[in-house]
Amino acid sequence: MAKKSAAHVIIMGPQGAGKGTQAALVAPRLRLEHVSTGDLFRQVMAGDSELSTEIRGYVDRGALVPDALTIRMLMEYVDEVLGGESEMRGMLLDGFPRNQAQAEALDVALRERGDRLVSVVHVDVPRERLMERLTGRLVCSNCGATYHRRFNPPKVDGVCDVCGATLTQRSDDTPEAVERRLSIYYEQTAPVLDYYRAAGLLLDVDGDRPIAEISDGIVEALQSKFDAD
Ligand code: AP5
Ligand code: MG
Ligand code: ZN
Repeated sequence: MAKKSAAHVIIMGPQGAGKGTQAALVAPRLRLEHVSTGDLFRQVMAGDSELSTEIRGYVDRGALVPDALTIRMLMEYVDEVLGGESEMRGMLLDGFPRNQAQAEALDVALRERGDRLVSVVHVDVPRERLMERLTGRLVCSNCGATYHRRFNPPKVDGVCDVCGATLTQRSDDTPEAVERRLSIYYEQTAPVLDYYRAAGLLLDVDGDRPIAEISDGIVEALQSKFDAD
C-alpha cells in the first residue's frame, strides 16, 4: 500500500491518438508516474514463460487481455511504484481502464487505497488519421520511446534518440490488428468516456495538432487542477 493518499490522472483516446507520446512528455512535468498496461504486457511478452505466451495470444491479434489478469498486474505495479519513499503525486494511467468493468474495478481500488482521480484526459483524433499513425510508428526496443516515420522521425534512421538502441515496429501494428483494436475501442472503451464525463472529470483535448502544443495544453490544464486542491 502507498503510505500517503495519491492523486491519479487517466489518459484515454483511440489507438494512435498519442496517449503514450503525450504521457511520456507530461508525466515528469507533473510529478506523475507514467504507467501503460500495454507496456507492462509488452515487458512480459519479451520474456519466455507460460504467461508471456498467453498474453501474446491476445495482444498480437489486437484483442483485450482478460480483465482479472489486467487489473491484478496493474495494481501490483502501482503498489510497487507508490510504496516506500515515492516523490510522485500519483500515476498517469495510459491504456487503462478500457471497458466499464475495468473503470468500476479502478473505482473500488482507489476507494480502498484512499486515493483520488483528479482528471481524465481525452485525446481525440478523427478515426481516419489513426491507421496512418499506427502503421508508421516505430518504437525503441530498449527504452520504449515512440517515433513515427513521417510525423516524428528519429534524428538517425532506425536509431533511438534517447538511448541509441534499434527501433522496431510493434507486433500489433498490422492493419488487421489495428482494425480490431479500433473496433474494440469504439464499442467498449469510448462509452467509458461518458462515465467520466458524467462524473465531471473529463478534459477533452484536440489531439490532431503538433505534439508539443498538445502537451503544453495538457500540462497547463492539469496544473491548474492540482493547484486548486
Ligand atoms: P496499448 O499499448 O495501450 O496500445 P493501444 O491502446 O492500442 O494504444 P497505442 O499505444 O497504439 O496508441 P497511443 O495513443 O499510445 O499512440 P502513440 O503515442 O504511440 O495496448 C496494446 C495491447 O495490450 C491491447 O491491444 C491489449 O491487447 C493489451 N492491453 C493494454 N491495456 C489493456 C487493458 N487495460 N485491458 C486489456 N488489455 C489491454 O502514437 C501513435 C503514433 O502517432 C506514433 O508513431 C507517434 O509518433 C504518432 N503521433 C503521436 N502524436 C502525434 C501527433 N500529435 N501528430 C502526428 N503524429 C503523432
Ligand atoms: Mg500507447
Ligand atoms: Zn531508446
